[in-house]
This record gives sequence, structure tokens and C-alpha cells, in this order.
Amino acid sequence: MHPQRRRQYLEAIGIEEWRLRARETPPPVALPATGPAAPTAAAPAATPAATPAATSAATPAAVPPAAHGTDVAAQWEALRAEVLACRRCPLHATRTQGVFGVGPLRCDWLVIGEAPGAEEDRRGEPFVGAAGQLLDAMLRAIGLDRRNNVYIANILKSRPPGNRDPRPEEVAACLPYLERQIALLQPRIVLAVGRIAAQNLLATDAPLGRLRGRVHHLGERSTPLVVTYHPAYLLRTPGEKRKAWEDLKFARSLYQQLTEGGSIDGNRS
Ligand code: URA
Repeated sequence: MHPQRRRQYLEAIGIEEWRLRARETPPPVALPATGPAAPTAAAPAATPAATPAATSAATPAAVPPAAHGTDVAAQWEALRAEVLACRRCPLHATRTQGVFGVGPLRCDWLVIGEAPGAEEDRRGEPFVGAAGQLLDAMLRAIGLDRRNNVYIANILKSRPPGNRDPRPEEVAACLPYLERQIALLQPRIVLAVGRIAAQNLLATDAPLGRLRGRVHHLGERSTPLVVTYHPAYLLRTPGEKRKAWEDLKFARSLYQQLTEGGSIDGNRS
């Protein structure tokens, strides 16, 4: 990406302090030569932290292992219809509509948030409110765009009233939909935004600060997963944007390593 354009994107995010440094293209994140199990892009190693949810997150019974066959689009549309008609939890009674996700079916990046808010509930698309605008700007800064090369989905497909945190039984009812989305999308890298997404995907109650800065692995495909702050939190706490930018650079660097066919190390230096 042209440095001037990246500068404009960073300014849009509101990261004034980065402007001077961003006059040069940020160097790739230097990863340590050694680290925890280093799965390769060609042959991912076993999931290091095989938590129940992390393991199950790509093991839907309904989807065959080679999901990217000719019928993927049909399965995708069937899944969308199921989600939009879902009544598995009481949230169906208070939502305007289910929010399935947005982005191209075939793309390497998957961003996972928490749940639709009021604007998303109204429009039927994730991350279209104020937090969504910041998320779009953050993604653009690493060359991603929901119309072209990143899919965006949530842990919950229905809005919790008053934007309260999702309840465990709601997550339990809804997560299988996301698991099936992941199996069909087969992303090469996942970015979990916010505590709720990270904790539920990784089946942990570790604080977000401890989940950032390293590579997690999701599901049987051991898909690399990076954790960062939720854009709504960044709107409330702009001082943390710098850290979010570090996370994005880290994720971008991992992706570059994956696509160059090298192994990836597990920690940010
Ligand atoms: N916050 C989320 O986590 N997801 C959305 O879709 C909107 C706001």
C-alpha cells in the first residue's frame, strides 16, 4: 500500500502519534527465531491449546472436510437461511433480524466480533455503526476491505437487548453457526476483536491483555488467530489505538509469512 494512503487511513483511525513514524512503511513485525510450536502453512501443527471451543470451532458435523467444493455456495446460502430463520434462543423474539455476516465467501481473512448492535440489527450487516466505521478504517490500514478480501461475522447473530454481553446459553446456541461459517470459509487467519469474541473462540476466561501479542490456533485446521481490542472499546479509550495497531501489524506479518509459505512463530517480539 502506498505510504501516503496508509497515512490517510491511520489518520482516519485517529492515530495522530503514528503519523511521523508512518512516513516510512512500518517494518514487518520482527518475530523471534524460536518460539512455541511453529506450524507451517502447508502442514499446520497440532493445536497448542486444545480447548473445547477452540477445537470444536471448525468441526461441524454438517460440513465435509473438503468444504471448498462446488456446492460451497449452496451450503453457504442454506446456512444463511437457517440463521435468518433461527429461533434457537430467546433473542429471536427481540431482534429485528439475524445478522449473518458480510464479505466474499472466498477470502483469507476472517474478523470475528461479539454481537450485532442497534444499527447492525436494523441493517442486517455486522459492524455498520460507529465501531464498524473504525473497524473498517483499521482494516483498510492493513489492506483489507469487507467488499473484497475480508469476511466479518459475530459470535452471536442476534442483538442482545440493550447491547448487554451475550449469555453463555446464547453463545452455546449460536456458536455452531459460526463454526459452520468457518468450515465453509476456510480462512487462513482469524482476527478476534474484543474480549467476548476472543474468550468464546478460545474457551478461556483470560483477560484480553493476556491473549494479545501471540498466535492462537483455532479448530482442526489450526487456523492462526490473533486477538485485538474491540473498536467500540477503542472509541471509548483512544489511547489504546496504538496497541491495536501493533496487533494489526502482527496479524499482517503472520499472514505475509503464511502466504510466503514459511513457518510462523507464536509471539510478537
Ligand atoms: N460490535 C460487534 O461486536 N459486532 C457488530 O456487528 C457490531 C458491533
